[in-house]
Amino acid sequence: MSVTSTRPTIRLTGRVASIEVSPTLAVLNRAQELIGSGVDIVDFGPGEPDFRTPALVSEAGKQAIDQGFTKYTNASGTKALRDAIASRYATRYGVKLTTENVIAGNGGKQELFNLMLALVDEGDEVIIPSPYWVSFPDQVAFAGGKPVFAKTSVDNQFRPTLADIEAVATEKTRGLIINSPCNPTGAVIAESELRRIVEWCASRDVFLIFDETYEFFVYGGAKHASAMKWFDQYPETIIAVNSMSKTYAMTGWRLGYAIAHPELIAALGKIQSHSTSNPSSIAQAAALAALRGDDSEVRKMYDAYCERRAWLVPAVNAIDGFCCADPDGAFYIFPEIGEFFGKAGIVDSQTFATFLLEKARVAVVPGSAFGADEFIRISYATSLDRLKEGVRRIEEALSTL
Ligand SMILES: Cc1ncc(COP(=O)(O)O)c(C=O)c1O
Repeated sequence: MSVTSTRPTIRLTGRVASIEVSPTLAVLNRAQELIGSGVDIVDFGPGEPDFRTPALVSEAGKQAIDQGFTKYTNASGTKALRDAIASRYATRYGVKLTTENVIAGNGGKQELFNLMLALVDEGDEVIIPSPYWVSFPDQVAFAGGKPVFAKTSVDNQFRPTLADIEAVATEKTRGLIINSPCNPTGAVIAESELRRIVEWCASRDVFLIFDETYEFFVYGGAKHASAMKWFDQYPETIIAVNSMSKTYAMTGWRLGYAIAHPELIAALGKIQSHSTSNPSSIAQAAALAALRGDDSEVRKMYDAYCERRAWLVPAVNAIDGFCCADPDGAFYIFPEIGEFFGKAGIVDSQTFATFLLEKARVAVVPGSAFGADEFIRISYATSLDRLKEGVRRIEEALSTL
C-alpha cells in the first residue's frame, strides 16, 4: 500500500454542506460582542420570553432532582407526560388521543428535525410559506428534500392561503409546514382557510406539519385555529408540533413534542432512541407540573405582551419609512424597511440591521434570515421601558439619514 504525504482533511458530507448557519446571525453576534464590552444595547433580537419560568414549574424540576428522578426514562418521554399532553389537546381541541399519539423531545426543534428524517426522501418537495422560521428550510434540506417557498402577501398580513400553496405544488410535493401564529410575522391563519388546506393535503396525500409553538399568544379579535381540530378525520395527514418553550418561558429546559399517527410516532421514537434518547427527566417533570397547573402565570405573560404590542405597533408605524402590519400573534412585529435602501450604505435588511446596531445601539434580526429581505423582525419579549427606549433610539438614528 502506498503512503500518501498529504495531510488528512476534514471531509464533511454533502448533507452538512447543504445547510448553513444563518449568516444574518452575524448581527446578533456583533450585538453580543458589544454588550460584552459594556455597551448598552437595546436588544430586540431574542426569540424567547423575557420572563422567568413560573415558580411552580421550576419547583417541580428541583423536586425531581431531590427525589432522584434523574435517570433514563422511556426514550419517547414518560407516560405521565405524554398523557398530560394528550389530555391538554383533548380539552383544547376535542381530539381523542392516546399515549401512542405523543412523543416528547428536546424541544419542538428536535421533533421537527426527526419528522423530516422520518418523512422526507431524497428529492421530495416540502412547501414552506414565506416568510418562514429559519430552521424549516435547512431541516428539509438536511433530510435530502427540497424546500419550496410559497410567498405570502403582506396585504393579507402574511397569512398563508391555499392559493399560495397550490401555486407552487408539483407532483413531487410530499409535505407542507404551516406555522401559526407565525415566527417572524405574527400571522395567524383563519380556521376556514386552514380547513381548506387540511382537506387539500389529505386529498393529495401530502403531510401537514402544523407548528403551533405560539398557540397561546394571539391578540385582539383573532383566534388560534389548530389543524388538530380535524385530526380524528385525517390522522395520517396531520402532525402537530408544539413546545413548552414560549408558553411557559422554558426555552432552556428543552422540552417540546409532536402529536401524530401512532405509526409515525413510533418512527420518531426509533430515531430518538438512537440519537438523544429521552429528553431530560428533570425537564419532563417540570413540563408535567406546567401542564397540570392553572396557567395563571401564562396569563400574566400574555397580558404583558398585549400591553407591549398595543404600544409598539403604532409607535413603529409612526417612524417615517417604517410600515408594519398589525400582527395577530406570537411576540414579534415584522415591519417593512425597504424605504431606507440606497441611503447611508444600506442595501438590504442585513446592512439596515447593522446600521441600527452601530448608530442606534439597537439589535434587530434582518428579514433575510426569514426569506424576506425588505423587512426586519423586532421581538417584544422585552420590557415596555426598553421597547420605548429602543424605538426612541431608532427614530433618532434614522433622522440623520
Ligand atoms: C416557529 C417555531 N417552531 C419551533 C421552535 C422550536 O422551539 P423549541 O425547540 O425551543 O421547542 C421555535 C423556536 O424559536 C419557533 O419559533
